[in-house]
Amino acid sequence: MVLLKWLLCQLVLFTALSHAFTDYLLKKCAQSGFCHRNRVYAENITKSHRSYYKLDTGSIAHDPLQNVLHATLVKTIPRLDGDDIAIEFPFSLSFLQDHSVRFVIDEKERTVANNSGLSISPQRYNKTWQYAFDEKFRNKVLNKTNSPELHFFKQEHIANSLWSKLSSFLSLSNSTRDIVHLQNGNISLDIFTEPFQLKIYLQNTLKLIVNERSFLNIEHHRTKQENFAHILPEEITFNMFKDDFLYSKQDTLPLGPESIALDFSFVESTDVYGIPEHATSLRLLDTSQSEPYRLFNVDVFEYNIGTTQPMYGSIPFMFSSSATSIFWVNAADTWVDIKYDAQLNKTMTHWVSENGVIDVVVSLEQDIPTIINRFTDLTGRPFLPPISSIGYHQCRWNYNDEMDVLSVDSQMDAHRIPYDFIWLDLEYTNDKKYFTWKSNSFPNPKRLLSKLKKLGRNLVVLIDPHLKKDYEVSDRVISENVAVKDHNGNNYIGHCWPGNSIWIDTMSNYGQEIWKSFFKKFMNLPVNLTNLFIWNDMNEPSIFDGPETTAPKDLIHDNHIEERSVHNVYGLSVHEATYDAIKSIYSSSDKRPFLLTRAFFAGSQRTAATWTGDNMANWDYLKISIPMVLSNNVAGMPFIGADIAGFAGDPTPELIARWYQAGLWYPFFRAHAHIDTKRREPYLFNEPLKSIVRDTIQLRYFLLPTLYTLFHKASTTGFPIMSPMFIEHPEFPELYGIDDQFYWGDSGLLVKPVTARDQLETEMIFPPGIFYDFASLNSFINDGTDLMKKNITTPLDKIPLFIEGGHIIAMREKYRRSSKLMKNDPYIIVIAPDAEGRAVGDLYVDDGESFGYQRGEYVKTQLVLENGHILKNDPIHIPENLVDIHSDTLRNTNIEKIIIAKNELQQNLKLKSYVAVKQDGKEYSFPSKLSYENDHKIVILNPKLDITESWELII
Ligand SMILES: *[C@@H]1O[C@H](CO)[C@@H](O)[C@H](O)[C@H]1NC(C)=O
Ligand SMILES: *[C@@H]1O[C@H](CO)[C@@H](O)[C@H](O)[C@H]1NC(C)=O
Ligand SMILES: *[C@@H]1O[C@H](CO)[C@@H](O)[C@H](O)[C@H]1NC(C)=O
Ligand SMILES: *[C@@H]1O[C@H](CO)[C@@H](O)[C@H](O)[C@H]1NC(C)=O
Repeated sequence: MVLLKWLLCQLVLFTALSHAFTDYLLKKCAQSGFCHRNRVYAENITKSHRSYYKLDTGSIAHDPLQNVLHATLVKTIPRLDGDDIAIEFPFSLSFLQDHSVRFVIDEKERTVANNSGLSISPQRYNKTWQYAFDEKFRNKVLNKTNSPELHFFKQEHIANSLWSKLSSFLSLSNSTRDIVHLQNGNISLDIFTEPFQLKIYLQNTLKLIVNERSFLNIEHHRTKQENFAHILPEEITFNMFKDDFLYSKQDTLPLGPESIALDFSFVESTDVYGIPEHATSLRLLDTSQSEPYRLFNVDVFEYNIGTTQPMYGSIPFMFSSSATSIFWVNAADTWVDIKYDAQLNKTMTHWVSENGVIDVVVSLEQDIPTIINRFTDLTGRPFLPPISSIGYHQCRWNYNDEMDVLSVDSQMDAHRIPYDFIWLDLEYTNDKKYFTWKSNSFPNPKRLLSKLKKLGRNLVVLIDPHLKKDYEVSDRVISENVAVKDHNGNNYIGHCWPGNSIWIDTMSNYGQEIWKSFFKKFMNLPVNLTNLFIWNDMNEPSIFDGPETTAPKDLIHDNHIEERSVHNVYGLSVHEATYDAIKSIYSSSDKRPFLLTRAFFAGSQRTAATWTGDNMANWDYLKISIPMVLSNNVAGMPFIGADIAGFAGDPTPELIARWYQAGLWYPFFRAHAHIDTKRREPYLFNEPLKSIVRDTIQLRYFLLPTLYTLFHKASTTGFPIMSPMFIEHPEFPELYGIDDQFYWGDSGLLVKPVTARDQLETEMIFPPGIFYDFASLNSFINDGTDLMKKNITTPLDKIPLFIEGGHIIAMREKYRRSSKLMKNDPYIIVIAPDAEGRAVGDLYVDDGESFGYQRGEYVKTQLVLENGHILKNDPIHIPENLVDIHSDTLRNTNIEKIIIAKNELQQNLKLKSYVAVKQDGKEYSFPSKLSYENDHKIVILNPKLDITESWELII
């Protein structure tokens, strides 16, 4: 969706260029008061080698009940007259999880004069973690005092070794540079008091240094009048009490400068990843000669590529190739500088936020998947979506009316193109009033929903947090006093799609209740109609006449909280309230919600999918979509895709083909198009494009059993779905920079989509092993110990796609109109043996739509091939009520075909005259006429095997 009608003339001018986002709307670091001040401070401190921060040794105390180390950090501002000013910052440190250290630096109570007229809390906002952390950790932290049995780190280790060490150490030493040594399991930590610094070790190997470069800077509270006395020699005062930037001059900055900053050095790594969302490479760029990465949720229509400018979502989580991570738990405007030092083999990062507290979780692990696992343990696992929502989504701004929707629906079927979701953008509403339908276009939504439901299809409608002034919904928001306020405390009015609008304050609990009540009324459908879902767009929030396309920072949320403090988490508060509403509305049918959000923060993965926003229909945007999707996948939020085949502009047929072939691998697979573009539903294409696109979408559906298994794995461990090569093969340094080729989770499917014009050949990179071309099962061997490059031909109908030897995947192979209709189809098992004739694969199956899996109603099995000819099925989990739910929800769990790929090492493997099955000790045999083989594969037809049973097949 677009922004800025009032800038339409500029936009029109700029759309002529390939990169059209009006860059000048966003601040550069040098235009942002606190960013510029901290960059200058860092530069000056580097030259002066000084530090003004120390941990007061005498203040170090241990709270044994909560297992927290408390201390006071002191900033001393030297004064010529000798009356140095000392500012105190409470510091606390704890082990939040195994292998995770959390520390928080707040500012001692900030007092403002009674007559200041301040309508916001003067205290630093310290509750971002309550939005980011999963409920489990929220409760652990909140419950620390009233339920001592819920310790949030391992008391026994601490009590026995750590704290006794600490106290004995403290009684021995009081030199000016004390080192406090802490330990928890494999993690140890040195706290240096002066200058303040932390060194964090995993198994005695140094991994991370905090404040190595003394960039720690906390702009403590002071008035404009006293400011001159509170400035350090290395500081500048640029825009401390005002904002010069053209579009944010109105910012009242009621508390003056408040920024926080800290540096972190990752040792033994020159590769860092994460901090989405940015349209850059997967491996983050060195920013020492350019703009820092910025995390600030904004509406960037036709965003620029290759820049570190902010985008719609922010996940302030970064990790290194050495499996060390930082989670900067702050939702304010944030900038991150990155400097790689190849000589010292380390990565130096500098994090700066406009306000709030320094709240950091550092994790140290042996490998990257465990780092992501740890992060999604803390911030919540990606939700397991309904299986229909990992099928194909057909969206457009806009499907005009019920007839239009139903005609797309039937045309897709007529052309044998499967799909599961059709979407209604903005225009389905009556006059852009959310929670209403345009009555002449959608006179009977129930009728539409029940027609779509026949084939198991779903409808998504857009509902945004901006509400048109003067209709019953916004009137209610105002009368219940749950609209976001301006800095004077009046209901804030800004410009968005409907014209003058107010914004629901979902940062307020009561605001969430009111928001939910609107859904309750809007989705008041017969109990069997549970196929209406929601899309929260524009929730950064996007405000057409707001500074930098978004909310003024001095808006006020519930509880006197400034927008400045919570900006990046507002979108999450909107979609979480929306999710809760849908979940509760569908609770009687136990249906899992599907929800799409544009703005996101750490934790958004618990309840929503997202997409890469308003891209353009050209090759550059196709290419950048891959690293963008990968970046979210390694940052705990894998359910993401890019609009196929580019939101704005009309794609060429070739681009359409290539975009579908790439988009098939996005966890979220949706076509979407701007209102000004030509219609491009796949059945409208001429041949051969239509067939290419249809085959591509069908392939997605054939692979749904494997993809759903990957979604399940993500929902239990955070494991990426679209996964960088270094996750599977961390042993090759060259792979840490690869972001145009990737695996699908741990399935062994290796893909390099074509993302350029006229490309009839592409070079892929292969680790050692056997690789089977997916379409033919023709294989080749990389029998070296190094990576191998190989040219792959890529005619327009071909996706460069391989299965790596050692893997087994499950598929289906019949065209059906929707995912629901595939449930009766049996499975195809495709086996790709490695050089030892071994292969392994998991399969996860549940009803695909309810929360039954949380009550154990799912099947999980592991298939293993040994010695090239013994295939075992080993069910890991079978529901207790299997018999009851089998026919009803799991449906068909039979295998109709087993395909074993052959490679040149196995050419002498011949199919015997029969295959034997041992099941519960009994043997069955099949005549070989049920099988056939050629040079590339052995195919066993109708083996009468079931994935829910334990068996062994000998070939
Ligand atoms: C957060 O700040 C408030 C004061 O604004 C303080 O009372 C509270 O203890 C702090 N909470 C945490 C977890 O630091
Ligand atoms: C304490 O934990 C329990 C269970 O985890 C939870 O229900 C309760 O809400 C928690 N209390 C607070 C204050 O969060
Ligand atoms: C620690 O400092 C105190 C006072 O500053 C002093 O009296 C004492 O001797 C010192 N102890 C050691 C071990 O240096
Ligand atoms: C800090 O940097 C600014 C800008 O480069 C410069 O004007 C100032 O003199 C420097 N101050 C110190 C103490 O280095």
